Amino acid sequence: MALTLRQIGPCFAAEVDGLDLTRPLSADEVAAVHAGMDRYAVLVFHDQKLDDEPQLAFTRSLGDIEHAIGTSLRAPDELRLPTTFADVSNLDKNQNVFARDDRRRLFGLGNRLWHSDSSFKVVPAKYSILHARSVPSKGGNTEFAYMVAAYDALDAETKAEVEGLVCEHSQIFSRQQLGFTDFTDEERARFAPVRQTLVRTHPVTKRKSLYLSSHAGGIVGWPVPEARFFLRDLVEHATQRQFVYAHSWRVGDLVMWDNRQTMHRARPFPAHEPRDMRRTTLMGDATVEQGGPEMAPQPPHVRAVPAQP
Ligand code: OGA
Ligand code: MN
Repeated sequence: MALTLRQIGPCFAAEVDGLDLTRPLSADEVAAVHAGMDRYAVLVFHDQKLDDEPQLAFTRSLGDIEHAIGTSLRAPDELRLPTTFADVSNLDKNQNVFARDDRRRLFGLGNRLWHSDSSFKVVPAKYSILHARSVPSKGGNTEFAYMVAAYDALDAETKAEVEGLVCEHSQIFSRQQLGFTDFTDEERARFAPVRQTLVRTHPVTKRKSLYLSSHAGGIVGWPVPEARFFLRDLVEHATQRQFVYAHSWRVGDLVMWDNRQTMHRARPFPAHEPRDMRRTTLMGDATVEQGGPEMAPQPPHVRAVPAQP
């Protein structure tokens, strides 16, 4: 069966038919998936009976995997999945649902704020590939906002204002918004801020988008409260209904999104029910050189930045 795409969101997001992701993709199919991502930014594949290995193989056929190392509050010996996966489930390594007040769960609630994956890393994510292994009885949607249309809809004055701005991103900033502030010194060092441009140009489509994320807690050269207010207004603008597609999950759904063109957030669901979602992620490109006089000292793992050509 030929591969077909059908738009399902207001101005982006498409459902893909005719691709079985458990078998290797041909070069033409890989090219079609990339072209679909460039155009729609979110692709939905239903009924994919994938295990971890086939999900990794599919991911690798599209690019270089981003490893999830040191980005959550799970200690290395508490990991349920290998570091080739970001574990966005609410399960511990014995497959038990986290207690309601478990620190790892509360940190994970940060996914319910609008964000772009790994914007807190010097080299942020390109695509995220999320597969539903088990879903709760209600709630737990994932919403996506199309940052290309959001950029286009800005007035000329705001477009001029955002041009060239650089933001500081950290998981500490996103969690601060939830009142989660009890980080250890080790965690604070690990989550030190990195810089990202506020406006991105897509390398293929050449369209501009707003690179927003709840991890953004400051704008270089701006007073913090003013920066936060400005970013909050932009997020409010960019997440209006006309820019949003809400995905209601079925087991076996695989949803891929382009973090350079979209933000997303998880929606609430009953806390005692398991939700087993496994994410593989492709590495993107650094958006800006790190450093400069107003940059906080960086731990080694977030330094060493290739300049954007
Ligand atoms: C993610 C994420 C949202 C969700 O996988 O990066 O934010 O609904 N997931 O689980
Ligand atoms: Mn995410």
